[in-house]
Amino acid sequence: MLRTQVGIVGAGPAGLVLSQLLALDGIDSVVLENKTRQYCEERIRAGVLEWGTVELLAQSGVGERMRREGLVHYGIELRFAGRAHRIDFKDLTGRSITVYGQHEVIKDLIQARVAADGRIVFEANDVRVEDLNTNKPKIQYFHAGESHEIHCDFVAGCDGFHGICRPSIPSAALKLYERLYPFGWLGILAEAPPSSEELIYAYHERGFALHSMRSPQITRLYLQCDPEEDLAAWPDERIWRELHLRLAGGRDWKLNEGAILQKGVTGMRSFVVEPMQYGRMYLAGDAAHIVPPTGAKGLNLAVADVRVLARALKDFYSSGRTDSLEAYSQTCLSRVWKVQRFSWWMTSMLHRHEGNPFDHRRQLAELDYVASSRAASQSLAENYVGLPMD
Ligand code: FAD
Ligand code: DHB
Repeated sequence: MLRTQVGIVGAGPAGLVLSQLLALDGIDSVVLENKTRQYCEERIRAGVLEWGTVELLAQSGVGERMRREGLVHYGIELRFAGRAHRIDFKDLTGRSITVYGQHEVIKDLIQARVAADGRIVFEANDVRVEDLNTNKPKIQYFHAGESHEIHCDFVAGCDGFHGICRPSIPSAALKLYERLYPFGWLGILAEAPPSSEELIYAYHERGFALHSMRSPQITRLYLQCDPEEDLAAWPDERIWRELHLRLAGGRDWKLNEGAILQKGVTGMRSFVVEPMQYGRMYLAGDAAHIVPPTGAKGLNLAVADVRVLARALKDFYSSGRTDSLEAYSQTCLSRVWKVQRFSWWMTSMLHRHEGNPFDHRRQLAELDYVASSRAASQSLAENYVGLPMD
C-alpha cells in the first residue's frame, strides 16, 4: 500500500502541471498514467500557449526550453473574402502568445518531475477510484501485472475526456452540458518552413483552414472536414490543393509545401460537467470540459483549473482552510463558461455551415465587423491571449 497526499490520475497537461505546482508547495503527489512515457511525449495536440500559461510554466521552473524555443507572437491574421486582416495583440492588449507544442510542454514537465524524484507511474492499468465520499479516498491499479493501492487525502481527476474519473461519479450528482458540431479538423504536420510568421485563421466558401507552426522548419495546418472523414480519401496532393485554395490571400503570399509527417482527424464538441467535484475528487482539464479547438483554449483551460486547485490544496495543507476547495468548482466554471463562449464564437464565425446562405452572409459581416471595429478586435484579442488568471 502506497500513501500520498494527492493522487493524480492522468499525465496530461492538467495532471503534470498540478503535480509540479504541488511539489513547489511541499505537497506530495503520485501521478498514474495508463500510457507509456514515450507515447505521452510524442502525442501531437495543441500548440498555442496563452500569456498566463507561459508565466505559470516559467514561474514553476519548467519554462527554460519554452523561453528558448517557443515562438512569441504578437498577433494573428484573419483571412476572408479575399482580404487579410491582422489582429494586433500587442496594441490591443499589450500581451503576446507563445507557440510551443503541447508535447514539448509535456516533455519539460516529465523531466522536471523525474529530476525531483516525483512519482509518475506510466502504464498503470485498470485505474479505479474508490471511497471518494470519505476522508480517505483510494486509487487502485495494476502495474507490471501486480495490483496496487494508493491511499490519499484527495484525488485529482486529470484523465481527459475518455478517462475513468468522471464516469466514477454517480450520474445523478452531475449535470452535463454538450454541443456537437457537424464538422471536424483534418490536421497535418509538415516538414516545411511556416509560410507566415503568424497564425492565419481563414474563412473560405470551401471551409475553414488554419496555418500554424511548431518551429522555423515545421508547419502545422488544419482543414475543416466532416467529423467522420476518412483519411484514405485525403492523399497528400488533395490536402495541399485544398490548403492552397482556402488559405489563398495577398499577392505575394505563397504556401510552402513539404513532406507530411503526421495526419489526423479530430471531431469537435463543447462539453461541460457541473460541478467539477465529487466528495474528495476534483476534476480538472478535459475530464471536466471540452472546447472546440478554434480558440486554441483546451490546454490553457486545463492549466487554469489546476492553478486554482493547487492554491486551494495549499490553503488546506497550510492552514486547514477548506473554503477555497469548496469554491473550486465555482471558481473554475466562471472561466470555463467564458472560454466556452469564445471557442463557440470563433468556431461559428470561421466554419462553413451547410444549408442556410443566411449564415454565410452573417459570418462575412461578423468578420468584417471584427476587422473594422477596435472594440470587436480587442474583444477577440483579450480572449485569445487569455483572460486574467487573478
Ligand atoms: P489530456 O491531455 O487528455 O490528458 C489526460 C491523460 O490521462 C492522458 O495522458 C491519458 O493517457 C491519461 N488517461 C486517460 N485515461 C486514463 C486512465 N483510465 N488511467 C490513467 N490515465 C488515463 N486543443 C487545442 O487548443 N488545439 C488543438 O489543436 C488541439 N488538438 C487536439 C487534438 C486531439 C486529438 C485531442 C484529443 C485534443 C486536442 N486539443 C487541442 C485539446 C488539448 O490537447 C486538451 O485540451 C489538453 O490535452 C487537455 O489536457 P488534460 O491534461 O486535461 O487532458
Ligand atoms: C493550433 C491549434 C489550434 O486549435 C489553434 O486554434 C491554433 C493553433 C496549433 O496546433 O498550432
